[in-house]
Amino acid sequence: MSAAIQRRLENPEPHSLSERHADSTELHPELNRAHVRFIGLGKTYNGAQGPVAALQGIDLAIQRGEVFGIIGRSGAGKSSLIRTINRLEQPTSGRVLIDQVDIGGFDEDRLVALRRRIGMIFQHFNLMSAKTVWQNVELPLKVAGVPKEQRDRKVSELLELVGLQAKHKAYPAQLSGGQKQRVGIARALVHDPDILLCDEATSALDPETTQSILGLLREINRRLGLTIVLITHEMAVIREICDRVVVLEHGRIVEQGPVWEVFGNPQHEVSQTLLAPLQHALPEELQSRLQAQSPSPDAAVVLRLQFTGSSQDEPDLAALFGALGGRVRLLQGGVERIQGHTLGQLLLAVTGSGLSAEQLRQRAAPWAQRTEVLGYVV
Ligand SMILES: Nc1ncnc2c1ncn2[C@@H]1O[C@H](COP(=O)(O)OP(=O)(O)OP(=O)(O)O)[C@@H](O)[C@H]1O
Ligand SMILES: [Mg+2]
Repeated sequence: MSAAIQRRLENPEPHSLSERHADSTELHPELNRAHVRFIGLGKTYNGAQGPVAALQGIDLAIQRGEVFGIIGRSGAGKSSLIRTINRLEQPTSGRVLIDQVDIGGFDEDRLVALRRRIGMIFQHFNLMSAKTVWQNVELPLKVAGVPKEQRDRKVSELLELVGLQAKHKAYPAQLSGGQKQRVGIARALVHDPDILLCDEATSALDPETTQSILGLLREINRRLGLTIVLITHEMAVIREICDRVVVLEHGRIVEQGPVWEVFGNPQHEVSQTLLAPLQHALPEELQSRLQAQSPSPDAAVVLRLQFTGSSQDEPDLAALFGALGGRVRLLQGGVERIQGHTLGQLLLAVTGSGLSAEQLRQRAAPWAQRTEVLGYVV
């Protein structure tokens, strides 16, 4: 057993993100220390037109301290899944384990205790409009019967964490969207939860405010060691903040893995469609000239190469261009890094190689995870 696993077994406390990244044995099955585990989970609603199978046969493990993303088309079952973690939704079949404890049989008292360990934030913030920022954050503590002195300390500490001390007397209507979500985050943290659920928490925010909320969530994940489970339709959010991601379609898991892997080389059609907006587009002028069939023998073949790897093995472009032969022009390209891995994309136009488009694609294949012929231009 590695020293890191030994350490984890002896010390089950939340750990820092940096330690987790250094320790790839974290997800080793021998530990079986998933923070949240779904086993054969199913959820069927009684819809107006009959039963709706929202989740079917979900088997999934979310590790302690990770930021876990859930993506999928509208209606795929994302909210239903996340809401079984704090039992806002009761599964129809299967089990949800939190820290290896099956929450299925919990009575009301245990559910109340469970929900205090699990914070949740929403797209529309769900703040009380007649209460100030301070009162909104304080309310769950009051409900829980926490004495005033303790409440004051906690609210003050949390408003500082989310950067809203100066606004403590303001009402929600006087706040920006980002500020409202900061109140939502502070309120979600009042009981020192060890899981934070985020259902489209940044969807109502502009890109800049989204960035600041993501920064805050990441800081909370690192500083407090919280496990964060996050639903979003903004793929850039997942790329920015998540460690792993699962893709749902019609209530089933169609793909899951580390973000760099799924985003670098999505396998399922749904993942490919969802992630398409992150791809570099062809320049518009070129797109309009692109043809599916070769219009003439000297037309250029347009290839798209996508590669993933460790940060040391970006493709050797001279060797790639040499293998393609002819004249190779770079139309568009970029390399970014996620979790220490390289995700790259090259759009190339090749002329005069004497090879067919498919032959060119095969020549390029050793340098990329995916190679596609996009078409021809003259
Ligand atoms: N209370 C309900 N009664 C009946 N059907 C429901 C109920 N809640 C959800 N559904 C259905 O279950 C399926 C999954 O819904 P869910 O809200 O989990 O999807 P989602 O992935 O979160 O979608 P979105 O991205 O639009 O939020 C959908 O077909 C939805 O219509
Ligand atoms: Mg939803």
